[in-house]
Amino acid sequence: MRPTLSAGALLAFTAATAPAQTGTAIYRDAAAVHPVVGYGGMVATQDAHATRAAAGVLAEGGNAVDAAVTAGFALAVTLPRAGNIGGGGFMLVHLAAPEGPRQVAIDYREKAPKAAHRDMFLDERGNPVAELSRTTHLAAGVPGTVRGLALALEKYGTVPLARALAPAIALAEDGFPVGEDLHDSLRFYADEFESAPEAMGIFFGPGGEVPPVGALLVQKDLAASLRKIAEGGPDAFYRGSIASAIADDMAAHGGLITREDLEAYRPVLRRPVTGSYRGLRVVSMPPPSSGGVHLVQMLNILERFPVEQYGHNSADAVHVTAEAMRLAYADRSRYLGDPDFADVPVASLTSKKYGRELAAKIDPEHATPSLEVAPGLDPMERYESNETTHFSVIDRWGNAVSNTYTLNFSYGSKLVVPGTGILLNNEMDDFSAKPGVPNAYGLIGGRRNAVEPEKRMLSSMTPTLIFREDGSIVATGSPGGSRIINIVLQMVCNLADHGMNVAEATHAPRFHHQWFPDQIRVERGFSPDTIKLLAARGHKVVLAPAIGSTQTVSYSGGIFYGSSDPRRRGALTLGLPPFTPDEAPAPAAKTPDDEEAERPKERGDELEE
Ligand code: GLY
Repeated sequence: MRPTLSAGALLAFTAATAPAQTGTAIYRDAAAVHPVVGYGGMVATQDAHATRAAAGVLAEGGNAVDAAVTAGFALAVTLPRAGNIGGGGFMLVHLAAPEGPRQVAIDYREKAPKAAHRDMFLDERGNPVAELSRTTHLAAGVPGTVRGLALALEKYGTVPLARALAPAIALAEDGFPVGEDLHDSLRFYADEFESAPEAMGIFFGPGGEVPPVGALLVQKDLAASLRKIAEGGPDAFYRGSIASAIADDMAAHGGLITREDLEAYRPVLRRPVTGSYRGLRVVSMPPPSSGGVHLVQMLNILERFPVEQYGHNSADAVHVTAEAMRLAYADRSRYLGDPDFADVPVASLTSKKYGRELAAKIDPEHATPSLEVAPGLDPMERYESNETTHFSVIDRWGNAVSNTYTLNFSYGSKLVVPGTGILLNNEMDDFSAKPGVPNAYGLIGGRRNAVEPEKRMLSSMTPTLIFREDGSIVATGSPGGSRIINIVLQMVCNLADHGMNVAEATHAPRFHHQWFPDQIRVERGFSPDTIKLLAARGHKVVLAPAIGSTQTVSYSGGIFYGSSDPRRRGALTLGLPPFTPDEAPAPAAKTPDDEEAERPKERGDELEE
């Protein structure tokens, strides 16, 4: 089957505003859900305060990187369950002319401290102790967010760090009204905060009350930390008094992060993973995220099947997609890890040839039991949580940012470094404490993701950019733990195969398979008939809670379209009004040079039998 550009792909980005057409009629009002429309740039984040802060920077003439960094710091205040300065993440930047077009990936994932070791989360009998990697000071990786966002701004932005931090400082200092989403989340996690008195004192009332909707959440310590960073740059966090506070807290509670670990932390510029799907160019995050590799791998498999003809969420489409997911997640466990420590066969996994080989293994009529895909591993079912957050920005010059970052669990370990207002991540749980045993997302890790000093833990975060030959761009991504890769996969297929606009692609019901547990998890909205057809092919289908929360913006034909996922409250997509041409000289990024971006390793790119 030769890859072709489907009618859906041609129309997907423009469906919302295309004039009436004959043939495959797409009318402005044919859209089941309409995207937000803008003319001078667009921002989508999980929180309205952060979106407004970022849009304000765009309105002043800042570029997409300026706006994204502003959103990143604001979310650390207003979306404390995932926005952070005590965690890490991944930013994908697309630079339009005059510096581009080109893309670079900024890896600001946390690292294991130097004193970390392979068996640090095992008991004396060699069994993993989940609490150690989730709720203690040992759970924290060395945070990457502050250096990561500062690097993005320094290399590709135009405004000073203090400008990007100003809205975050004001939101922390003056407070903001608690919204329904934050209220519900604090209520849900209240019990877990009981063993974290510093955080309890910030997010709850004096008697441990959950703040009511509308109450002002003021975070004076966090405001002071952010101000120190605005004045002293990232060194304030990694060398100054914040570093001392983190190291002292660690030393007092059996944690491993030292001042030396903090001083040594550096983000890495990496070459993104790239692929194509039915004529679209897909650019995504390379290892240590598994997101881009498996997104491209699954698209290469699906390109061998007439997914458009099958129809959106038909039994045929769900079957082949779930089989592709099963194969990809098995490879994730086998091959993925930090590329600075292990040879990760990125080129092989993302090759069209391998996609063809895997597609040939898929039986169109029968599900393949996961145990047959990778025999010998013990399936264990674990809960999947919904943390992490994504934001997307495109500016009026066509620069784009797709950024996903996280504390791992909601509010990370829930431990706040005393006097700083900074929540600590529990990202160490993303290592495989013991190869073959699932982490909190039910993901089974292999030896390449074992704990090692200064190593980055494997991630599923999948910030992604999609390009069409006519210059259209989509920036998308999602939270959702292990489900993130599959969420982004379905965004791409909804746009490319099924002719949806970005809002329809966002709203459409989602499903998920991750090899183990061997089941397809479906959101509400799948027909019982479809579920019966899938069961007849041997799939176990279970109803799941909402999957993910994408924040997507796109640019096509001079118009911006965007959509914040309705699955969670509080998100906002804002489009900017048009600019007059003389208001819009393209600002030069300060140091537009990604030559230092690391090339994927040539060595070790063979897939083992
Ligand atoms: N902590 C979730 C991820 O990085 O995928």
